[in-house]
Amino acid sequence: MKSIEISASTPYTVHIEKGCLPHLGQNLSALLSPCTAAVISDENVFALYGETVCASLQQAGFRVLPYVLAAGEQSKSLASYGKLQEFLAQNHLRRSDVLIALGGGVIGDLTGFAAATYLRGIPYVQVPTTLLAAVDSSVGGKTAVDLPMGKNLVGAFWQPSLVWCDPDTLPSLPDSVFRDGCAEVIKYGLLRDADFFRRLGHASVAEHLENVIAQCVTMKQEIVTEDERDRGVRQLLNLGHTFGHAVEECSGYTLSHGHCVAIGMAIITRAAAALGYCAASDAKAVEQLLQTYHLPTVSPCSVSQLERAALSDKKIFEDKIHLVVPESIGHCRLVAVPATELRRWLIAGGVQ
Ligand code: GLY
Repeated sequence: MKSIEISASTPYTVHIEKGCLPHLGQNLSALLSPCTAAVISDENVFALYGETVCASLQQAGFRVLPYVLAAGEQSKSLASYGKLQEFLAQNHLRRSDVLIALGGGVIGDLTGFAAATYLRGIPYVQVPTTLLAAVDSSVGGKTAVDLPMGKNLVGAFWQPSLVWCDPDTLPSLPDSVFRDGCAEVIKYGLLRDADFFRRLGHASVAEHLENVIAQCVTMKQEIVTEDERDRGVRQLLNLGHTFGHAVEECSGYTLSHGHCVAIGMAIITRAAAALGYCAASDAKAVEQLLQTYHLPTVSPCSVSQLERAALSDKKIFEDKIHLVVPESIGHCRLVAVPATELRRWLIAGGVQ
């Protein structure tokens, strides 16, 4: 069992423990008086864990209202968000009630944004059921929905009251969903911890889930404590994401987020090596580790396609894009690259 305290503007605990799912209600009742708990989930996750979570909350004295959406990124839309808000209002939820995000990143981001804005803010709890959500999106209070023009374009920073992570739930979803999370785990090693990165090459993430999640969350805790609002050091968490998001968009979202982050990390590390920021052996090590976890390292999209998509990224300021560039395994830095140079980076990163 691991408990990590996040000292954000509203402090909260990330609790990681195998088999803890049925104890959610009991633990939440120590934080909130009995109230209505709306359990927001997708159809796949709810079929697996909805009953356990609802029963646990009911036994602890909560009135439970399940709300189940279709699985997939399309549920992270303004339309789904509007319907969810109407559901909350129709059921007379008040500021003293709570939303429970039971699922992966889509459910966590949507529920968090609904919580941030319903009645100008009500509490919510993250119950991540994917590795990606456990190590990244459930922690740090970034909430959002997508627009047709791009991902996460409408959102808010709104911290959860609790993150309740049962590692036993993570391997039950498809293998490709688990591998998405492995890409984010590798990201933490490349970003901040060379030993952790090397250990990932020797022992599998699946065998050491509780420890791996705790180490990633601890790294994220250090970063978000320093920069909750993403103005500085937190941008390092976008390692692999600028080109990753571009691949995701160009693939018409047929490639998953984690797989695209893997491609993005491989491109930026190859570019960093080619442009003299890190050693060629580091780029090789990143590629090898991604391949060990059966993650892709080559872009299916062309330089022109990725350039166009990357230039529509919301993180462009004054015609410069901030790339997270590896200097060695465990160390990265932000480099402000003029938009006109992006093509050079993509070509250096091996994109054709
Ligand atoms: N997922 C990146 C962040 O939380 O900043």
